[in-house]
Amino acid sequence: MDRLTTGIDGLDDMLYGGIPVNHVAVIAGPAGAGKTIASLQFVHANLLKGKNCLYISAGEDPEALLANTRSFGWEFDRFLDSGALTLMKPRLIEVVNLTSDFLEKLPHVVKRSNAEIIVIDSITEFNDLCQTDIERRGRVLNLYEAIKESGATGILTAEAAVDGNGTRYGIADYVTDGVILLRRLQSKDLSELIHVVQISKMRWIQHSKEIRQYEVTEKGIRVHSKYSVIFSE
Ligand SMILES: Nc1ncnc2c1ncn2[C@@H]1O[C@H](COP(=O)(O)OP(=O)(O)O)[C@@H](O)[C@H]1O
Ligand SMILES: [Mg+2]
Repeated sequence: MDRLTTGIDGLDDMLYGGIPVNHVAVIAGPAGAGKTIASLQFVHANLLKGKNCLYISAGEDPEALLANTRSFGWEFDRFLDSGALTLMKPRLIEVVNLTSDFLEKLPHVVKRSNAEIIVIDSITEFNDLCQTDIERRGRVLNLYEAIKESGATGILTAEAAVDGNGTRYGIADYVTDGVILLRRLQSKDLSELIHVVQISKMRWIQHSKEIRQYEVTEKGIRVHSKYSVIFSE
């Protein structure tokens, strides 16, 4: 299977090369875990490789996102100018109706896009708008199928469940091809919180079962090698 780099060396190692092309994978984690940064790092690395990307930001304002990523040394402007990067900020709540019709449109937007990479940050905002679990599952499944049919590779970020073991609604975990789980642990001496990443699932490929420490740095996400000591005494 052809792979796409995640833009994060340690994560590519854990995936034995990267995300398989045409997979749809979830990056799940608590607030502040680095889901948005990881998704942008993935997009940036693949823009540099000449891929077309569609980035749908349900939460943050794209202008603010781009301004913030400048400090990481990532330059998105020229990809916006060339058309290689399309940013979308759907308006999910409308004044009259509780939800806009974007939920309905999303699979069509995905199918029509000629992007090789599609990122949705986050799927939780879309799930929140659904009335029932059945609707939620149906919509995630439609979206998944739309991305698969388009031939693109998808990354969906998702807020973590309270127990930290998967996504909040527990649907995308089952429907999609892979789950990259970001968790927070307390160091042994209780003095600090550390971030760890694991591949909980990645269909059809061999991958690492390790739990590795990572950090959000001024250059983006950095996953430590498995040999680095993660717990301080
Ligand atoms: N320039 C930076 N240097 C180091 N860490 C940063 C920097 N910018 C953001 N962070 C860290 O990244 C976190 C936010 O990452 P983000 O991707 O927005 O999280 P999420 O989308 O999972 O909520 C912040 O809480 C902070 O810990
Ligand atoms: Mg975020």
